Amino acid sequence: MGEVSDAEILAAFLAADGDYVSGSSIAEDTGVSRAAVWGRLDRLRTEGFSFEAVRNKGYRLETIPEVLHPALLAAHLLRLACPANLHFLAETDSTNSEAERLLAQGEHTPFVVVAGKQTAGRGRRGRAWFSENAGNLTLSLALRPQLPPARMQTFTLWMGLSTCMAVNDLCGVSLKVKWPNDLHWDGKKVAGMLTEARSDSEMLRDLVFGIGLNINSVTDQFPEEVRPLASSLREAAGKVFDLNATAAKIIVALQKACDDFLEDRYRETFREEWPKFDALVGRTVTVSLTDGDISGEYLGIDETGTLRLRLPDGVEQRFAAGDVTLRKQK
Ligand code: BTN
Repeated sequence: MGEVSDAEILAAFLAADGDYVSGSSIAEDTGVSRAAVWGRLDRLRTEGFSFEAVRNKGYRLETIPEVLHPALLAAHLLRLACPANLHFLAETDSTNSEAERLLAQGEHTPFVVVAGKQTAGRGRRGRAWFSENAGNLTLSLALRPQLPPARMQTFTLWMGLSTCMAVNDLCGVSLKVKWPNDLHWDGKKVAGMLTEARSDSEMLRDLVFGIGLNINSVTDQFPEEVRPLASSLREAAGKVFDLNATAAKIIVALQKACDDFLEDRYRETFREEWPKFDALVGRTVTVSLTDGDISGEYLGIDETGTLRLRLPDGVEQRFAAGDVTLRKQK
């Protein structure tokens, strides 16, 4: 027996919501012997859990790990009735690369890769993504969408908007979307997204959507060069989050956002909600392109996700890609 039973055991404790659970009821519900339950709890104790045992009452979950734990994450997903095909790695180079390897091996989609730590986490334009085991979430969602590549133009923007709305609701924060692929709080980056796809001439072959979301890290933990630019949900909300519970809810939200996109049920919400969460509204911005910078007044995005700028000469110019910086507000 592997992680599944550990997840079922932990799901029984989560269902009890801090109350006692008898060893025999866990054994009955999960189909393992009482001795096996006892052994499991002992092993979980070595992994950051603590259980209080009281005669005639049973066990009570007292402490959970602060880091991502595969069985606890799976237990939360079970409780949320989310049938995620989850690949958990304590450490990997990049969850996007791991997802690509699994796709190449023919792994059934959709699936999710979550890592405790990435040794070569990557961002857009060849940048690195800070991925120490610092209480954050790094994950990739892999798909084989039966769609033409042009249909995916707004995919990452939609996933960003959906994540922003879900995180704001779940965590009581007020993140904004910064075109094209970032979530910001107070002008600092809390999440970045990287979608990588392979296609034949007319159809997408597969797609990997990767997201790094800073949940419990604090500014001091970030590398010096990104320190002034980065933040986390902990800093935005002023509290520490239950990492596994939060990660599970975000996985559910990401899967739903993805389904809505693939089923073409997203356009109205995308059009109506993007302006409400848009970090660039009313700002003068600079778009960095490979051949130079262009500044102008931000006019929003169009239906295809293209950024619209009014240049100083009054002419409107549109950008399908690029990096955006904001002029400091006085
Ligand atoms: C960016 O802001 O430039 C995008 C950052 C994307 C980081 C995530 S972390 C999970 C996934 N694996 C990676 O190597 N990158 C993405």
